[in-house]
Amino acid sequence: MKTYLVTGGAGFIGANYIHYLFEKYDDIHVYNLDKLTYAGNPENLKEFENNPNYTFIKGDICDPEFVGPLVAKSDIVVNFAAESHVDRSIGAPDDFIRTDVFGAFVLLESARKHGVEKFIQISTDEVYGSIEKGSFVETDPLMPSSPYSASKSGADRLAFSYYVTYDLPIIISRCSNNYGPYQYPEKLISLFITNAFENKQLPVYGDGKNVRDWIYVWDHCNAVDFIIHNGQNGEIYNIGGGNERTNLEITEFILKALDKPHSLIKFVTDRPGHDRRYSLDCTKLKNMGWKPEFNLETALQATVNWYREHQAWWKKIKSGEYLEYYKSHYGKSL
Ligand code: NAD
Ligand code: TYD
Repeated sequence: MKTYLVTGGAGFIGANYIHYLFEKYDDIHVYNLDKLTYAGNPENLKEFENNPNYTFIKGDICDPEFVGPLVAKSDIVVNFAAESHVDRSIGAPDDFIRTDVFGAFVLLESARKHGVEKFIQISTDEVYGSIEKGSFVETDPLMPSSPYSASKSGADRLAFSYYVTYDLPIIISRCSNNYGPYQYPEKLISLFITNAFENKQLPVYGDGKNVRDWIYVWDHCNAVDFIIHNGQNGEIYNIGGGNERTNLEITEFILKALDKPHSLIKFVTDRPGHDRRYSLDCTKLKNMGWKPEFNLETALQATVNWYREHQAWWKKIKSGEYLEYYKSHYGKSL
């Protein structure tokens, strides 16, 4: 019986990861520690509410009193908890520094105090910054350019320092852009699918030619599981989907899948400091025997279908808090 402490498990990737764990393993207990910020939604894990092997704890990773006892009873810590949206980090960086850096520090300190079998720090490809040509390898320097990616870089390097200094069994993953079920409708794919359903405009930043490498969230979960069992302590693993597309290509795919007109596209003022292209060289993980299973077109179509079948889930979110945020941030309604 392995005990997992999953932080941020009520968010997009964390929730998918908990679904993944229970689909794959019988002999586990999962503690899900989540503060339930705007992005955390217990509905994402409704089916586990009565599962004796699942415990949800509402709490903040920045609170050592809270974190300590949970780390003490866990074998494997997977830290997904973060403020995760670049646009929000531009408007209000404070929470990013607090949760993404200080929260990671509190978790690492607890792990040092109580000992763990494995500590996975979920980092991101954004820590490398933008690349015009070629792809980043794990040893490339970090050049983050948003308060979000800078705070994730801080946690990434702090985690590494706990391996070097205290010999903690740390592994760092740097994954590319995820898409799939349960993604809060503020990121490119989830926002554009849900906007298109409602015949609302799709706000494409700048010229729409920025490139991201898209990975289906299930492949990310699978890669995290793979590195827990096959990775080496102190190592960094790039996790990419191998699907680089411009934002316009993604937008056009969504419009086609929903049979919606191009006139929904609205080019809007570019994001400040907008990274042009992210690209990962994933040879290291490939040589260990891991590769993504999902093809972009098939999984993106499945994602569109999921949002079609779960309209109550996202309509509840979009009818309230997000609209207020968008209006106050951009001075206009969606
Ligand atoms: P998300 O915003 O959907 O979820 C974050 C979760 O963390 C939420 O449930 C929120 O309530 C919780 N949380 C926030 N602050 C907390 C705190 N102080 N204490 C406890 N819980 C807190 O984010 P996501 O897209 O699921 O991303 C999860 C992780 O994966 C993040 O660390 C992110 O940097 C990383 N990541 C994301 C992507 C992506 O494409 N979304 C890609 C690579 C890496
Ligand atoms: P996003 O989903 O916010 O992820 P990240 O910035 O972390 O990569 O954005 C993905 C790309 O889509 C990025 O180039 C910004 C762009 N984008 C838009 O053009 N319009 C939008 O409304 C959003 C949210 C993103």
